[in-house]
Amino acid sequence: MIKAAITAVAGYLPENIVTNVDLEKIIDTSDEWITSRTGIKQRHLENDPKKATSDMCVEAVKLLCKKRGIEPIDIDMLIVGTVTPDMVFPSTSNLICAKLGATKAWGYDLSAACSGFIYGLATGSQFIETGKYKKVVVVGADMMSRIIDYTDRTTCVIFGDGAGAVLLEPSEDNNGIMDFILHADGNGVNHLHMKAGGSLNPASHDTVDNKMHYVHQEGQAVFKNAVYNMAEVSASIMEKNHLKSEDVQWLAAHQANKRIIDATASRMGIGSDKVMMNIQNYGNTTAGTIPLLLWDYEKQLRKGDNIILSAFGGGFTWGAIYVKWAYDGDKVKN
Ligand code: UT7
Repeated sequence: MIKAAITAVAGYLPENIVTNVDLEKIIDTSDEWITSRTGIKQRHLENDPKKATSDMCVEAVKLLCKKRGIEPIDIDMLIVGTVTPDMVFPSTSNLICAKLGATKAWGYDLSAACSGFIYGLATGSQFIETGKYKKVVVVGADMMSRIIDYTDRTTCVIFGDGAGAVLLEPSEDNNGIMDFILHADGNGVNHLHMKAGGSLNPASHDTVDNKMHYVHQEGQAVFKNAVYNMAEVSASIMEKNHLKSEDVQWLAAHQANKRIIDATASRMGIGSDKVMMNIQNYGNTTAGTIPLLLWDYEKQLRKGDNIILSAFGGGFTWGAIYVKWAYDGDKVKN
């Protein structure tokens, strides 16, 4: 069977950086609380009101093409995991393709919150594995600052803006997406969601007055579910593929909270030296976290490395993907 290999990775972060100390000036919080409870020190937030999620994605995909030596016209398909699309329709994927001149591509947005990238990777890989396409781009991107209430200290310290993208191509040597386990449970809706803006509660004066267009999160309930499910699904994919802890080179886990990531690593039996971590710099960029990790750690990745990607998010949605890395990251020119 043809395997779908990740052959390039890139990312984009808005220039504007907001530190915990900056947030201390606008809400009742402290650098100490944020650092000890989440691991976050700063986040990138887009401060240009004219920019949207598609603009971050365009920058990430441009870099992706440059690194792989291809043109946007070569892309067959582009999938975007996001809960902050530019608009309800058309899809952010359509807008990105238009801005890039990727006129041969089609694609769609995928709504799975923090699991958006792994859902997209699992889905995109199918189009390579069937032999239908040769170049599928999967983007995970969120401009969370546009749906966060900066008077709500329980959410505004956590989230950041960012986009990451990977290119999937047919594998030449059987490396690539080896397996995935994905889950969804809509019963988790009330713990993490945006109440208005859809057909249930269309935008109205009332929805705006009641702050229903912002992220609503019951942190502790999400925390408990995330710790259990992310750890279990990561251990399950290892067992299913007969991987012992010493066989796994890296864990690339959704960056929501350092404590959740540590619990996942502990359940997998792997040390902190194998855990990719950049939450301190970017916060939780929702669908952006996993491709941004791969981008940051690319230089350290070796052909044949076994990597477990793992996420948990609103929906609830969660899952894990087992990837055999397809190239030596240190040989890539940036
Ligand atoms: O990515 C999508 C999935 N999301 C997640 O995985 C997030 C999961 N949840 C979490 O990561 C954590 O629950 C949070 C980081 C959101 C919160 O941490 P926590 O340890 O669960 O705190 P808590 O909600 O139990 O709040 C403890 C205290 C409360 O004060 P009282 O009631 O004990 O007096 C909060 O009001 O901390 C207070 N608090 C804050 N204090 C300072 C909440 N937010 C802040 C803040 N600064 N920003």
